[in-house]
Amino acid sequence: MASIVCLATFLCGAASVSFYPNTNLTDTSGNIIQAHGGTIIQDQNALASGATTWYWFGQDDSTDTDFDGFLGVPCYKSDDGMASWDYLGLALSPTAGTAISDDAVVERPKVLYNAKNDEYVMWFHLDNSDYGLAEVGVATSSSIEGPYTFLSGFSPLGHQSRDMGVYQDPDTDEAYLIFATDDNANLAIALLNDDYTNTTEVVYNFTDVYWEAPGVIKNDDTFYLIVSPQNGWTPTANIYMTASSMSGPWSDYEELAPTEAYTYLSQNAYDLTIVGSEETTFVYFGDRWNGDELFSSTYSFLPLEIDSSGTMTLHNTGGWSLDVETGAWADLSYTSITAAESSSRTTVSCTDDCSGGKAVSMTDSTTFTFTWDGSDGDKIMQVQYTYSGSDNSFLNLGVTVGGVAVAGNVLIESTIAVYTQQAPIPLTLSEGDEVVISLLNWNGDSVLIEGVDIYVE
Ligand code: GLA
Repeated sequence: MASIVCLATFLCGAASVSFYPNTNLTDTSGNIIQAHGGTIIQDQNALASGATTWYWFGQDDSTDTDFDGFLGVPCYKSDDGMASWDYLGLALSPTAGTAISDDAVVERPKVLYNAKNDEYVMWFHLDNSDYGLAEVGVATSSSIEGPYTFLSGFSPLGHQSRDMGVYQDPDTDEAYLIFATDDNANLAIALLNDDYTNTTEVVYNFTDVYWEAPGVIKNDDTFYLIVSPQNGWTPTANIYMTASSMSGPWSDYEELAPTEAYTYLSQNAYDLTIVGSEETTFVYFGDRWNGDELFSSTYSFLPLEIDSSGTMTLHNTGGWSLDVETGAWADLSYTSITAAESSSRTTVSCTDDCSGGKAVSMTDSTTFTFTWDGSDGDKIMQVQYTYSGSDNSFLNLGVTVGGVAVAGNVLIESTIAVYTQQAPIPLTLSEGDEVVISLLNWNGDSVLIEGVDIYVE
């Protein structure tokens, strides 16, 4: 893959982006980005003329509590290293009388650039509302943002296809469809034809695995295939396998993060390769689903680290920055306020090794309160908590600053096992402000707040 060193910022735009995992991202018009199960790709044609442009495609779940029909595949564009996203409209629109009508299920859209035809090819999971169809759909466009023209929906090489991803090897330009098949029991890898519009042969089949949400990166000559165990719209402990060829043999799986962290409450959607002038960085792009309210699902961007022995780990952080020109990334600094710090709080011992060993046990009448003594301005507050509730249950945090409610309070999801998770809350603080965190819909389950980490935006 070519890499262009930016000689002037006007050519390449601002390059650095700060990610605060699981915040609600908005586009440049202030609307929440609806591009779940998506893909983010760099425009190689723009890169050839020195511009760094990124496009994000995904599912629009804005009206979905569960299934609510196909609303189209939105497309967003970033010229500033993924720091801001312009909404460009629908790349693929529902079309009456075709398999992508508004009663279709269209999930996990992915886009490839086919250099031979100078054409963009979109692949997606195509289904009906009871998931009985189990096909892939393919659409093409001469421009990256679309509109894409639907070609067909089909069973790849006669097999069912549910969750899927695509991967284009940057060294050979060979492209692959990775798809869950046989009622999810098996995960197959199929080589695409040289137009990228069809499959030619299954080159590997993982049997009896029940895996979903595949994504691939290549580090030196090793392929890493990331998948999630099947469990509906819910986080699971995502895993990866390695191989020196897409046709295997593939290694046994390893977990990306501690089992009980459930991939920091996310599910893989796509994995980005940032080829910078100084280093190559791999970015995990996951969904934090809320299965009961799909529209309030958020996104999780985290760095993937690979050590000298080839072990890959998802780096857990509440905030980090990435320079897409150099490929360099770093954790952002923050101020911690722990439950243990204030003698005026009623605390309990925390059930893991939280800082200071104390936490506030939240009920409908307890709060976690502190007075901010840092700088004035916009912040992201990452609430550090454990929540041992039932699988896939959500609670809302209520936050006030100086007695005024902060809008858009995030959901905190059950972690089932005890593991400190983070819930991000954007807010504006001034020195001396009292911040009060409460639970809006406590259900009797154990919720411990161990502290907050405050990042300066
Ligand atoms: C899993 C898959 C999603 C979607 C849902 C439907 O979560 O990963 O892409 O198909 O199941 O329940």
